[in-house]
Order: sequence, then C-alpha cells, then structure tokens
Amino acid sequence: MKFSGSVEVSGKTVISRNIFSLDIVSPQIASQASPGQFIQVKIPGINSVLWPRPFSVRKIKDDIVTVSIKKCGKVTGLLYDINRGDRLYVTGPFGNGFILPQMGRSIYLVAGGAGLPPLLFLCESILEKGYSPKLIHFYSGARYVEELFANDELTSLGVHSVVTTDDGSYGIKGLVTEPFANDLTKVHSGKDDLGPVIYGCGPMAMVKKVAEICHGLECYLSLEQLMPCGWGVCNGCAVKIKAGDSDNTEDEKGFRLARVCKEGPVFKASELIWD
Ligand SMILES: Cc1cc2nc3c(=O)[nH]c(=O)nc-3n(C[C@H](O)[C@H](O)[C@H](O)COP(=O)(O)OP(=O)(O)OC[C@H]3O[C@@H](n4cnc5c(N)ncnc54)[C@H](O)[C@@H]3O)c2cc1C
Ligand code: FES
Repeated sequence: MKFSGSVEVSGKTVISRNIFSLDIVSPQIASQASPGQFIQVKIPGINSVLWPRPFSVRKIKDDIVTVSIKKCGKVTGLLYDINRGDRLYVTGPFGNGFILPQMGRSIYLVAGGAGLPPLLFLCESILEKGYSPKLIHFYSGARYVEELFANDELTSLGVHSVVTTDDGSYGIKGLVTEPFANDLTKVHSGKDDLGPVIYGCGPMAMVKKVAEICHGLECYLSLEQLMPCGWGVCNGCAVKIKAGDSDNTEDEKGFRLARVCKEGPVFKASELIWD
C-alpha cells in the first residue's frame, strides 16, 4: 500500500552546484520500493505549486529513502534549500519499476542526466544479488560536469563504466549514446553471445536513440514525462504503445495510450511508438 504523509529529512548531500541528494525517513516506502519506482514530493506550505514532483528512488538503507535531484526549476530550486530536520510531504512508491535480469546475461545501463539515480539503484541491487560486475556496462552522460549525478559511486561498483559530457568538461566528449552504440555493435555482430539486456533512462530524445540502437534486443526504457497529477487521473503523461490482442477500442487504431505514472515509467522498447 502506498504511503502518503509528512516525513523528516534526515540528511542532505550537495554533489555539485546543481545536484544534491535528500535522505528521507519513511519505513513504509523503504520496505516497498524497488529500482525504477518513484515518489512524489511536495514542500509543505508552498501553495503556489499545486502538483507534487516525481523523483526516482536512488537508494534504500534501513528506513531511509534517498532521492538525487537536479535543480532545474521552481520546486527543485526550493528543495535545494531544504536541510536536515526539515519536513516534506511524500507519496509513494509509484510505478512499475524494472524487471531484474536473469543471472549470467550481459547488462547495458544507459543513463542521461536524471536517469542515473534509478539505474544506479538497479545496478547496486543486481550486484547485491551476486551478479558479476564484469557483465555490467554502465554509460552515464550529462550536459556538463556539474550535471553529473554521481561519479565516484559509479566507479566504485567495479563495473565497466563510461562517462560522457556534451561539452567534454568530464569524461568523453559527446552524447552518452555514442560509446554505447559503438560497444553494442559487438553484440549485434554476434561477438557477445550471452544475450544482453539493456536498460535506459533519461530525456526522451536519449531513450528514443537507445531504442533505435537496441533494435531487436531486449531493452527496457524508463520515461521522463511531465506529470501534471502523478496518480493516473489526468492522462497528461500518456504515451503511445502498440496495441495488444484485447478488444480495447483504441487497439483498432493500432495503438493505445499508457500512462507513464501508472503503467510505467518503465516500458519495453519494442512496445513504444515514437511520433
Ligand atoms: C518518473 C520520473 C522520475 C524522475 N526522477 C528524477 C530524479 O530522480 N531526479 C531528478 O532530478 N529529476 C527527476 N525527474 C524529473 C523531475 O520530476 C523534474 O525535474 C521536476 O519535476 C522539475 O520540477 P521543477 O518545479 O523544479 O521544474 P519546473 O519549474 O516545473 O520546470 C523546469 C523544467 O523542468 C522540466 N520538467 C518539469 N517536470 C518534469 C518531469 N516530470 N520530467 C522531466 N522534466 C520535467 C520542465 O519542462 C522545465 O524545462 C523525474 C521525472 C519523472 C517523470
Ligand atoms: S500524470 Fe496524470 S495521469 Fe499520469
């Protein structure tokens, strides 16, 4: 059952001028949330912002749920000024989350910007289950160094990791999908026969590119959509997915609408329709 209520912020870590993490105390969310799920956050007393904002669960330790946030607008700017001991109003966990891969398959994680927190959580969860870090390839990209969500945490995992920035201020200069596409050509050309599973999360243009690169391979994408309500009532977050076999009337058009906040945020790349 979803938790909804006031929670204490028990810790704050400033990662850069734009990126920070908040630890919140919520045994109810901590006991339920899995990688790829998100929580909705509201700042008590701020009535000028009607809707809560969605943030992926980055980490869970005991009763503490951590979210990592990029300051990019009104609410995230206000959250940047939240400190230990303050209170937030949170609801969650929401969404379907990632399906964990079978043991022994090679795994490719491709994160752009705020796509990193849920994929780091996924990666850590897979490693905790005994997965070999040698089978995991992690690509993390940001526009510039101060928008990188984590670096030391990524390298400390012992997986193959590649970091890119659009302007070259850290790691390889360019888009994160470029080194990923290069490495995946080995898979497409049959040099890697373990059967890869690909997970992507980030801005729409990036995950669309990941879907193109992964054509025919097992690939799961977590979508970042604007979420006006966040709990399935407004359809403002809907995306088109391929029609199924049911007698849903929308299926006659060859597609149906799926709400990212309810049926997502994770979808199989093969079921998404990109307009
Ligand atoms: C499922 C999901 C998980 C997310 N997880 C994280 C996370 O872990 N860390 C993180 O920093 N951000 C995450 N986001 C994005 C985050 O919700 C937005 O950055 C936040 O809502 C912006 O609020 P704001 O009031 O500061 O921005 P606003 O002032 O409302 O807008 C500022 C800018 O942010 C963009 N924006 C607003 N809402 C969203 C949104 N829902 N998705 C993408 N862009 C948006 C606007 O288009 C605008 O360009 C996630 C979004 C979704 C849908
Ligand atoms: S945000 Fe309203 S239905 Fe998804």
